[in-house]
Amino acid sequence: MKLLRYTLYVFAGLLLLASAAFGFLYFHTPNTAPARTITVRMERDRIERGRYLFRLGDCDGCHSERDFSRFGGPVVETGRGRGNVLPFNDLPGRIVAANITPDVETGIGSWTDGEKIRAIREGVDRDGRALFPMMPYGFYRYMSDDDVECLVAYLNSLKPVKNALPRTAVRFPVSMLMKFAPEPAGPVKAPDRRNPRVYGEYLVTVAGCMDCHTPFEKGKLDLTMKFAGGRAFEASGLKVVSANITPHAETGIGKWDFARFQQRFRAYQPYVHEGSPKVGPEKFTVMPWLNLSQLPDEDLAAIFEYLNSQTPVDHLVEKAKFQRASLE
Ligand code: HEC
Ligand code: HEC
Repeated sequence: MKLLRYTLYVFAGLLLLASAAFGFLYFHTPNTAPARTITVRMERDRIERGRYLFRLGDCDGCHSERDFSRFGGPVVETGRGRGNVLPFNDLPGRIVAANITPDVETGIGSWTDGEKIRAIREGVDRDGRALFPMMPYGFYRYMSDDDVECLVAYLNSLKPVKNALPRTAVRFPVSMLMKFAPEPAGPVKAPDRRNPRVYGEYLVTVAGCMDCHTPFEKGKLDLTMKFAGGRAFEASGLKVVSANITPHAETGIGKWDFARFQQRFRAYQPYVHEGSPKVGPEKFTVMPWLNLSQLPDEDLAAIFEYLNSQTPVDHLVEKAKFQRASLE
């Protein structure tokens, strides 16, 4: 009898704790700062800078209509920024990359520039709801004030595309845990471009290289394997695995000189200008080759230098699992 009562107390205690924890999570609101009051300058060179950042950050990757019957999934120009229900397997629910064109009804045309900046760097929508962190705000938070303002100027210059999408519906418990991801970014200074390693780190961060090139397990990046590759991307029966881009001599890019690295990217430039060729499913890739092939030499050199400063990780990503492009 005594034991039963004891068990009951323990049980009731646990229940109380669990419901308190649930209540805490349920009512927890993301950590946010008020959106800045700002109207970004719509000057031609700033919009151009924004276009560059849009490419570097691969916003197209999730937010634009793409044609994966062609190498690298080139953007269908009439659907740039229109948003997508993301097709990847293993997502915790229905994840919808929003329409980020200036369409007032279905896009972000009615948002203030400050709200757009906050969404990109801090991960909350205009109502303060946490964005699913697949939207890489954890990396974009390091984008400088000036750069994010240029990026928003470019977003404002996009053609409005009417494309109504369903809402994101994240499954429990991820729906609760993700409320802890947003964080105010504060003012962010521009990186020192004269220091290639610092500048390289900035570029690699905004480009999300680490996100894709680090193994991803149980909803988290395995940071002991930074840049070591092996993250799988599967969508609609297609699959690709990222490469090891640490300076490991045998399994990474340790034996590459800059010319080889540069050529690996430059090789795709003709596809940008002349259109990507039709390819079969074995050439499927999510690596933003088309965007990154357009980076200036200074950027590629800084990225190469930064990657080479990283810890080499011995991690053989089976070649059969990812396709080195036909051009190599
Ligand atoms: C890896 C995929 C991915 C990439 C890359 C990405 N986004 Fe997103 N983005 C998302 C997803 C998914 C959401 C919606 C999350 C949600 O609804 O919880 C989103 C939401 C947003 C929102 C909020 C819009 C709204 O209506 O809530 C903005 C603004 C935005 N992204 C801008 C950008 C910009 C600008 C870039 C490039 C610098 C970018 N995104 C790159 C996936 C991505
Ligand atoms: C959206 C995910 C994604 C992003 C972002 C990304 N990569 Fe990749 N990357 C891949 C995948 C997948 C592969 C393997 C398939 C292929 O080669 O196309 C790859 C391949 C590569 C290769 C070829 C390696 C080899 O052995 O041939 C290099 C180099 C590379 N990435 C560097 C980078 C750098 C540098 C960045 C950031 C500037 C970056 N990647 C950003 C997914 C990504």
